[in-house]
Amino acid sequence: MGKIKIKDILNGKYLQQEVTVKGWVRTFRSNRFIALNDGSCLTNLQIVVDFEALDEQTLKQITTGASIAARGVVVESLGKGQAYEIQTSEIEIIGVSDPEKYPLQPKKHSLEFLREIAHLRVRTNTFGAIYRVRHNLIYAVHKYFHEKGFFNVHTPIITGSDAEGAGEMFTVSALDLDHLPRTDDGQVDFSADFFGKHTNLTVSGQLEGETAALALTEIYTFGPTFRAENSNTSRHLAEFWMIEPEMAFYDLHDNMDLAEEFVKYLVSFALENCMDDLTFLNQRLADEEKQKPQHQRQEMGLLAQLRFVADNEFVRLTYTEAIDILRNAKPNKKKKFAYLIDEWGADLQSEHERYLVEKHFKKPVILYNYPASIKAFYMRLNQDGKTVAAMDVLFPGIGEIIGGSQREERYDVLVEKIKAIGIAEKDLWWYLDTRRFGTAPHSGFGLGFERLVQFITGMGNIRDVIPFPRTPGNAEF
Ligand code: 4AD
Ligand code: MG
Repeated sequence: MGKIKIKDILNGKYLQQEVTVKGWVRTFRSNRFIALNDGSCLTNLQIVVDFEALDEQTLKQITTGASIAARGVVVESLGKGQAYEIQTSEIEIIGVSDPEKYPLQPKKHSLEFLREIAHLRVRTNTFGAIYRVRHNLIYAVHKYFHEKGFFNVHTPIITGSDAEGAGEMFTVSALDLDHLPRTDDGQVDFSADFFGKHTNLTVSGQLEGETAALALTEIYTFGPTFRAENSNTSRHLAEFWMIEPEMAFYDLHDNMDLAEEFVKYLVSFALENCMDDLTFLNQRLADEEKQKPQHQRQEMGLLAQLRFVADNEFVRLTYTEAIDILRNAKPNKKKKFAYLIDEWGADLQSEHERYLVEKHFKKPVILYNYPASIKAFYMRLNQDGKTVAAMDVLFPGIGEIIGGSQREERYDVLVEKIKAIGIAEKDLWWYLDTRRFGTAPHSGFGLGFERLVQFITGMGNIRDVIPFPRTPGNAEF
């Protein structure tokens, strides 16, 4: 019989059968009990070794971190803590690991320390759980859209446009940085570069996604996006993954309905399919909360919070209504906000978003109809001439998890906006073409995948929910 996954053994499928398992030793106690983990699930498999049948050398090499194969019969365990175990006299050492030097000792390590050994942290319970939950969510995203008849579209990673118009982009170039070609006026001459123009890593697949929606009706992208913003926070990465659905014939309200249904589906999917890992993460968070002073602790545990979000309607309110609430909020009056709210038009900071969600409504909130001046150029201008049909979904502990809008489908209005922010029309000729030939009302949004994984795993820092985080000053591994 071939190699069997530990998960399947622990499900009871192989009782009384002889199996081979392969994995990494977590602990080895009393020269008799190996806790083996192969990553297929959180729980280790107990392997009971007949140490008299093993040679000294093999016994010595069964150390924390080593990879081994074990062959034996699956039996019901008499010991506490596990239902099944394997009894064996056949152990093969596959890869030795020096227990003195192995950085992961069988004890609790800080998340900060584990970030420094991101190549090994996946071997811990916490990161194994996060990787598995992350995988399940990726699968759920595709399942959700596929079953609704949306098509997945790959949009380019290298582009010549700035979708968000925020200028926070990484240049992609094959020029020799030590000998840059210059134009007559001293600028770098990108016409001599690989693509014959200045290119960058994409900040969003939306603009290309829109072209597909205006033919396939309902599409989504799910790809890596890059932002060169110097935000060293627990919610920002320079490289993150974004899911961007784009739908023809949807207005802003249809868009909000889809966003709410989608995130609830993902939370429910995790609850239905990742319960072992989520139960572990729930406990991890509860232990972490206990270290905090009473008044800083979260009211709800992780699982309770997830169920709450899956089962309750989100609050929907306009930016204007939100400003009224914030202006009169205690932390605003007592000057506790770092950015005080006094005028309509102010951009909302994460402290304001979190106040609305965590203190005022105690629910996820969808804010919509923002001032045009603080939102991207492609958002549809409302009748009032000063707000756009934008919407942000705000989550407890996270702040903005989704940003989206109805798009400006009117050619003339779009051209005006593009001009106003100083983008050359010729740079977006193809985007404008979609408004010249069979334009249609359409909408879409972007869900920050790591922020979602953060919410679902209860991890406080976004660097801990992506295998190898990219942040200012850090591109190790
Ligand atoms: O609000 P953003 O910038 O919207 C867009 O990019 C639109 N083009 C999306 C669309 O309408 N198709 O980003 C969308 C989401 C945010 O709500 C946030 O969850 C996440 O992407 N996000 C980040 N996540 C991690 N690190 C960063 N630096 C992020 N910037 C945005
Ligand atoms: Mg946004």
